Amino acid sequence: MADEVAILTARAIQAEAEIATLEAEIAQLQDPARLLANGIVSPQLEVLRTENAKLKFQATHLERNIAREQARTPDYMVSINQIVTDMFTLAIGQAYPDLDDIPVLIQKGKFADYQCNSAMSICQKLKAQGVKASPQQIGNAIKDQIPQVDFFEKLEVAGPGFINVYLSKSYIAQQVNNLLRDGVRPPRVMARRRVVIDFSSPNIAKEMHVGHLRSTIIGESISRLLEWVGHDVLRLNHLGDWGTQFGMLIAHLKDKFPNYLTVSPPISDLQAFYKESKVLFDSDEEFKKRAYSAVVKLQSRDPDHMKAWNLICDVSRNEFKKVYDRLGVTIVERGESFYQDLMQDVVRDLDDKGLTEMDDGRKIMFVEGQKVPLTLVKSDGGFTYDTSDMAAVRHRLHAEKGDWLIYVVDAGQGTHFDLFFAAAQKAGYYNPNLKRVEHVAFGVVLGEDKKKFKTRSGDTVRLVDLLDEGIARTQQKLIEKGRDKELTAEELRLAQEAVAYGCIKYADLSHNRCNDYVFSFDKMLDDRGNTAAYLLYAYTRIRSIARAAKVTPEQLKMTIAKEGVSLEDEKELKLAKCILRLSEVILKCLDDLLLHSLCDYLYELSTTFTEFYDKCYCIEKDRDTGVIVKVNMSRILLCEATANVIAACFHILGITPVQKM
Ligand code: ARG
Repeated sequence: MADEVAILTARAIQAEAEIATLEAEIAQLQDPARLLANGIVSPQLEVLRTENAKLKFQATHLERNIAREQARTPDYMVSINQIVTDMFTLAIGQAYPDLDDIPVLIQKGKFADYQCNSAMSICQKLKAQGVKASPQQIGNAIKDQIPQVDFFEKLEVAGPGFINVYLSKSYIAQQVNNLLRDGVRPPRVMARRRVVIDFSSPNIAKEMHVGHLRSTIIGESISRLLEWVGHDVLRLNHLGDWGTQFGMLIAHLKDKFPNYLTVSPPISDLQAFYKESKVLFDSDEEFKKRAYSAVVKLQSRDPDHMKAWNLICDVSRNEFKKVYDRLGVTIVERGESFYQDLMQDVVRDLDDKGLTEMDDGRKIMFVEGQKVPLTLVKSDGGFTYDTSDMAAVRHRLHAEKGDWLIYVVDAGQGTHFDLFFAAAQKAGYYNPNLKRVEHVAFGVVLGEDKKKFKTRSGDTVRLVDLLDEGIARTQQKLIEKGRDKELTAEELRLAQEAVAYGCIKYADLSHNRCNDYVFSFDKMLDDRGNTAAYLLYAYTRIRSIARAAKVTPEQLKMTIAKEGVSLEDEKELKLAKCILRLSEVILKCLDDLLLHSLCDYLYELSTTFTEFYDKCYCIEKDRDTGVIVKVNMSRILLCEATANVIAACFHILGITPVQKM
């Protein structure tokens, strides 16, 4: 908004100047002698007068707009880091107008609130031009250009030109009051984007494994983050529901359940069914032939084959749905089968552009800088994973009008993504400078033995079993704490689900997704340390403070409107500053899509809260009677603000807060 006001002001000033010139001209023109001397006749004068009136009108209008803009509080939460960065960008530009590309480095300071570290690099740039100046001098020159506004408590140049920024208490208090009055709002993002995000994406007839669990958890959270800041998000489940294996499955279904068209076959264990068909496919030539012919029939959409295929897909779909429902995940199914016709189109398009070539019966496409080519058509005429992704990327960019495509898929598929991203650019489907198309990769899930996560018997862990175990372990913990005696059965069930699923999600999200991570129920359910269990407890405790003080929501509203928070104690100020850092953390997450920063922030916020709460009494009770003698309303407001920020973070991370646990 600051830039908009600046632009409007500049336009108003320009309009004023134009009016002044015109008025001067008119004054001259009104002199009859001049008028004649210039041969000007009245109609032209009239034109000028009208023009002048218009400009005057515009100028007042602009001024009014500016006043309105300045009076309005923005409908987003400011990022203090962004404001500091903007101020320093301007100041550095003014202090050193002849230098280009100066990195404006603003960090959270060790002692100060923020620190600007640009002096060193400016010093080097000046040196290269033969200008001598010490980083200290440079720091001071920048500091002198920073406007005197009540935003800062003080600025000081320290060490080798670091500029320490201390924010003013009144500004912090005002921002916390805004947050209390207007609720926790997202920071401002430059433009609303259409995002297409591909996540979860398991394969039909195969078990959804822990890798898919990671994709589901991370994808859901990224989607929530993007939606929260106002982007238009399309969540797609790119199910593996097409290809040769379906020929196998259908041929086997026909053999085992010949009346599948009238009676729904009970394939309760689809994976075992898949394994059987695979054995037949590899050992029985005759079966193999039937499997191939089934694929051909399926791809030409023969009704009976479609029916068989749907039956098989339904079994998996129901299994996946159970996991999504339990984890609170919403996603639209758009499997590989959706792209059948589009795969034909995309291959034709690449042929027309002369990008394909034949190699031993296969149709392939080479892309500069990529070691392997894409295989677009196999020698048996079938399409591949490459083809479906080429068709899908094109569809998401053009038909879905996506300007930001995200694929949340394990890091092991990195080369596949590099390859088809490069191919899509080569085919002219998108320009990477205009569209953001990215593989959001993540590492593998390890067991506590640091080996690939498996059951004791060495099988892949079924997700439903994993969720069940989470619930059972949580129940045990809650019973150990005697909660079964304090909570109603319904409260206990809610607490159990919130803790179990919250912990599984948080354990995943709080680790840098690029690394492998060790799955450990013991660690994730521990209520000390950076876990959802700890945070959920902290949250319920904070929420219970206002309840214990018997402060009503109306009283809170009144206090916000009248006095707001006062930040007398250093711990209060520290907590307030921490609360306000939410926006910059969110902006960082939008940039790198690494959600562990949000988890780190959340943990820091809860520990900062504890520091505050240990030192600053919110409620004072009579030692003997236990009766409340004093309620510090400003501190209760700080509790509210903290809890509201935690709730916003919980929402993004997919954690359900509970009233009691
Ligand atoms: N179904 C694939 C798998 O299980 C993941 C698909 C990811 N999305 C994509 N567009 N390639 O490995």
